[in-house]
Amino acid sequence: MSLIHVKDLSKHFKILNRREGLGGAFRDLFSGDFRTVEAVAGISFDIDAGEIVGYIGPNGAGKSTTIKMMTGILKPSGGLIEINGLVPYENRIRQAQIMGVVFGQRTQLWWDLPVIESFKILKEIYKVDQKTFDEHMDMFNELVGLKELYSQQVRTLSLGQRMLCDITASFLHNPQIVFLDEPTIGLDISVKAKMRTIIKELNRTRNTTIILTTHDLGDVEALCNRIIIIDKGKILYDGDIKKVNALFGAYRTLKLQIDQFNETTLQTLNDKLTEKFGTDHGITISENEESWTDVTIDQARTPLSEVLNHLMTNFTVMDVRIVEISMENVVRKVYDGALT
Ligand SMILES: Nc1ncnc2c1ncn2[C@@H]1O[C@H](COP(=O)(O)OP(=O)(O)OP(=O)(O)O)[C@@H](O)[C@H]1O
Ligand SMILES: [Mg+2]
Repeated sequence: MSLIHVKDLSKHFKILNRREGLGGAFRDLFSGDFRTVEAVAGISFDIDAGEIVGYIGPNGAGKSTTIKMMTGILKPSGGLIEINGLVPYENRIRQAQIMGVVFGQRTQLWWDLPVIESFKILKEIYKVDQKTFDEHMDMFNELVGLKELYSQQVRTLSLGQRMLCDITASFLHNPQIVFLDEPTIGLDISVKAKMRTIIKELNRTRNTTIILTTHDLGDVEALCNRIIIIDKGKILYDGDIKKVNALFGAYRTLKLQIDQFNETTLQTLNDKLTEKFGTDHGITISENEESWTDVTIDQARTPLSEVLNHLMTNFTVMDVRIVEISMENVVRKVYDGALT
């Protein structure tokens, strides 16, 4: 039997269509004008002990909702979740003992207390014995050097420091499973690297199962052997990361700021690229924010330098950046059949 068993899981939210103003708010009370959001629309998967699974997808895909159901915070609208054979929502206290969870957007530590006091409270809550606690703290200190932060109030920590403390806390009671929902959001490269070290090390030494949600494909590449891609509440891909890596490793996005950008620019860009590289150039163009254009290139088919040269000669490019493929573009490629 697998550690986590999810079958036909769904979650619908009923949302009131709000009207503007005070009068509107009053009328809303009686309107009954609801619409339904299918945040999770029938997903199934099994996860074994010791796996590190990247649970990825664009904004609003249903990732956090799935995690909230797996941790027992939300009750599913339909389908089944079993963790160690138990239904999370019905066994919240027992399940809490075997799970750790970090929501990158908020902390589970106490804002006004020094860090170490938060840890001590969690130690009591989870009945962690002193020896295990000390070993755990030593291990984290060795990995990411947190000791000097212990006397500091949580509210005074930087985002990166707070996240490292949150992760330390989530592993404190040596849970079988840790859910990390955007643990690297807004962090700089060096803190991200520390975060990855901790996650890897704990998985290796304690065989902790990890479900990781992130928008950073670098996290996924560094940590996961398996990924599940979700979009609009449905699973698009579940499998080996190698296949995905081989595919997406070849993609780069050129972000261009083009002078005198207007509604015909995208078409002109397309025409110019087709003229030079033919119809099968594997390049996708999309307008980004204010006059920035994303040109996503499959380097296996068309060398990036040639594309850049061609664009520079045909357009007045004011600024250019090269980035790895974004989550949104990954999903678009999967829809286009990139993995089938
Ligand atoms: N409590 C709620 N009430 C109503 N709608 C909700 C609620 N929570 C989530 N949703 C909606 O469900 C959908 C999925 O949201 P969810 O937070 O699971 O997405 P996500 O994949 O975690 O996205 P992100 O990458 O932005 O964190 C969204 O359309 C969201 O607006
Ligand atoms: Mg989320």
